Amino acid sequence: MTSTPDAAPVNCELRGNLLLVTVDNPPVNALGVEVRRGLVAAIEAAEAYAVAKAVLIVGAGRNFIAGADIREFGKPPQMPTLPDVCNRIEACSKPVIVAIHGAALGGGLEIALAAHYRLAVAGAKLGLPEVLLGLLPGAGGTQRAPRLIGAEAALSLMLSGKHIGAQDALKMGLVDRVGQSDDVLTEGLTYAQQLLSEHAPVRRTRDAQGLADTDAGAAAIAVARADTAKKSRGLLSPLKIVDCVNAALTLPFEDGLRFERARFIECLDSPQRAALVHAFQAERQVQKAPETRSAQPRPIASAGVVGGGTMGAGIAVALLDAGLPVTMIERDDASLARGRAHVDKVYDGLIAKGRLTHDAKAKKLARFAGSTSYDALAEADVVIEAVFEDMAVKQAVFAELDRVCKPGAVLATNTSYLDIDAIAAGIARPQDVIGLHFFSPAHVMKLLEVVVPARVSADVVATAFDLAKKLRKVPVRAGVCDGFIGNRMLAVYRAAADHLMEEGASPYQIDKAVRELGFPMGPYQVIDLAGGDIGWATRKRRASTRDPNARYVQIPDRLCERGWFGQKTSRGFYRYEAGQRAGTPDPEVEAIIDAERERAGITPRAFSDEQIVRRYMAAMINEGANVIHERIALRPLDVDVTLMNGFGFPAWRGGPMHYADTIGLPALLADIREFEKRDPLFWKPSPLLVELVERGETFASLNRAM
Ligand code: 3HC
Ligand code: NAI
Repeated sequence: MTSTPDAAPVNCELRGNLLLVTVDNPPVNALGVEVRRGLVAAIEAAEAYAVAKAVLIVGAGRNFIAGADIREFGKPPQMPTLPDVCNRIEACSKPVIVAIHGAALGGGLEIALAAHYRLAVAGAKLGLPEVLLGLLPGAGGTQRAPRLIGAEAALSLMLSGKHIGAQDALKMGLVDRVGQSDDVLTEGLTYAQQLLSEHAPVRRTRDAQGLADTDAGAAAIAVARADTAKKSRGLLSPLKIVDCVNAALTLPFEDGLRFERARFIECLDSPQRAALVHAFQAERQVQKAPETRSAQPRPIASAGVVGGGTMGAGIAVALLDAGLPVTMIERDDASLARGRAHVDKVYDGLIAKGRLTHDAKAKKLARFAGSTSYDALAEADVVIEAVFEDMAVKQAVFAELDRVCKPGAVLATNTSYLDIDAIAAGIARPQDVIGLHFFSPAHVMKLLEVVVPARVSADVVATAFDLAKKLRKVPVRAGVCDGFIGNRMLAVYRAAADHLMEEGASPYQIDKAVRELGFPMGPYQVIDLAGGDIGWATRKRRASTRDPNARYVQIPDRLCERGWFGQKTSRGFYRYEAGQRAGTPDPEVEAIIDAERERAGITPRAFSDEQIVRRYMAAMINEGANVIHERIALRPLDVDVTLMNGFGFPAWRGGPMHYADTIGLPALLADIREFEKRDPLFWKPSPLLVELVERGETFASLNRAM
């Protein structure tokens, strides 16, 4: 359906004996106050017009209704509230029918649940994703959904936040009918006419019998409660969702609504909700890099990958999954066979988990080719290099790409740290060279740093963002520096953790404190997972350029010298029993740490978990501020998206810069100045942080200003 930019957000039109109500509030028909008012007015009008025998609600544009307007959260409420609107729809004395296309999410689905009949067309996405924003369905969804589809299915929808399609919704009883075509208006009108001709009565979800089997409902709630307690990891709203479904089972409908409202308001007012909405909006803001506005992306219909190791294979899978033909280049036949085997292994893993069929794998691999000759890349629109992290090797690869690739091909490097300006300067077409920094495993991790060297042309940057969308990645624009945004910050907060370890905290306490902050793993668990040898090689490479006055903790080197690289060698900071991914603390490691403290002349002292977190976060935030100050990241929100999507930062804390605002920048700066007294080389307050504190501003103010 097309939308008209100046139309009222809700339009009513009599179509014979039907009142057609169209929600038209671009971009996604969110339920802002004007839409809420319009919907109530439409129902009142339907009751008032004798000629109208039923109401059909549809959405204009690409969606039915995407939910409450998240921009209103945290602002004073405006009447009518969404629960009022839903109740008014449900109370309507004439049948109300909804016809759903695109998104019917959150409050959008709650409107549909309050209506009397529901139709969806192919391509519809139905869901109650409030939990992903730190909320629960707050417009009757927790009371109506279980009554309509039973406690178990409703809990699954609300706790996962997943979207389901029209056919699944039909099977579940969430909709009554799936349209024959995807023309939602025609389907809706036909269905409404049929209901009218059958004299279909008003049918209210509040009276539906999905909870009639109280034993089954109670059992589903008990299972969900136990599961949620285990999995919700600090999140508030999941358990409240379970409580609300329990209220649906045990309380009269009106009391259940009141119970839900109170829980919804608690969630709405929580910092978790603010952080998760920030995360949602930031993920959309990062897509809008300046070049995406000023330039048109180049077409990408085929891709090449150079290097078939860990990253090359993962990148190839990501490209294949996006539907592109992919050519992989390796040094020799044996390496190419290994590269192919890597790709195979990823798909076989998915088959083993039941997430891919053999047939689907064969179809993907039909688009995959390998070669040891660069000439095979002559027609590729984009080539991504993922060879060893060595400038000379990369420059040689780019010289080959310069030789064989067609004019206009985008030439990308997946380097983690190297100077992309230097890579670009070595060839005749620096305007085509860009960084596409994927994270391991590249076919899984959402983050893609788009690293923008000085001489790249704007349309190449726009192409990178376009490619990210095809790959379903979250792209963040980054400038060239050692480690770009994420790895540069990682180096600093890991160093802070090493300092804490040398001063007296055990790696196990540090990991625990960081996990309790909401990270899935602590820094030493991550090192053991990725392999301690990777960082060791980097440290050795940089030894000659390291500031001799800078503090250097040697504990990780002592472990690597013993061949303790982590999980793959069964020992690292932890010990790993055969086949176990979880490690156990190792007294020998603790003895090595003790010896190192002694060698460094440090008398160990005790740290509380809170002290650990304060130092760790101060280091992360301070470097984040430097990254913004130097324009490596465009805004604080770009840093937040990077850390949340690539480094395990808990989304419900909104990323380090959002988190900094919640603890208060003056307190943070005071901490850093305190740490600076002991180690002034490491702890230099970022000029941006100092400036913001002086001006009494926050990182959020920079997000708004830029
Ligand atoms: N409120 C306000 N703006 C919204 C919005 C919402 N609920 N959902 C999306 N938008 C905005 C986005 O911020 C973006 O704005 P921008 O153009 O300024 O960046 C624009 O709409 C387009 O969004 P997307 O880029 O995400 O567009 P897509 O086409 O990729 O996806 C979508 C569309 C599937 C609807 C996706 O936007 C989405 O998942 N939205 C959120 C849905 C949601 O969580 N709804 C529940 C809200 S909470 C609620 O309803 C509470 C209730 O229970 C009381
Ligand atoms: P790897 O060692 O697993 O794979 C490198 C591959 O490149 C090998 O298969 C090798 O045979 C091949 N190769 C080397 N020289 C070549 C040449 N001249 N032509 C063709 N192929 C050649 O390395 P990995 O981990 O995949 O890293 C690759 C790049 O990705 C590096 O720049 C690394 O810094 C970067 N990176 C690595 C991440 C990781 O977690 N491993 C994360 C993000 C980036």
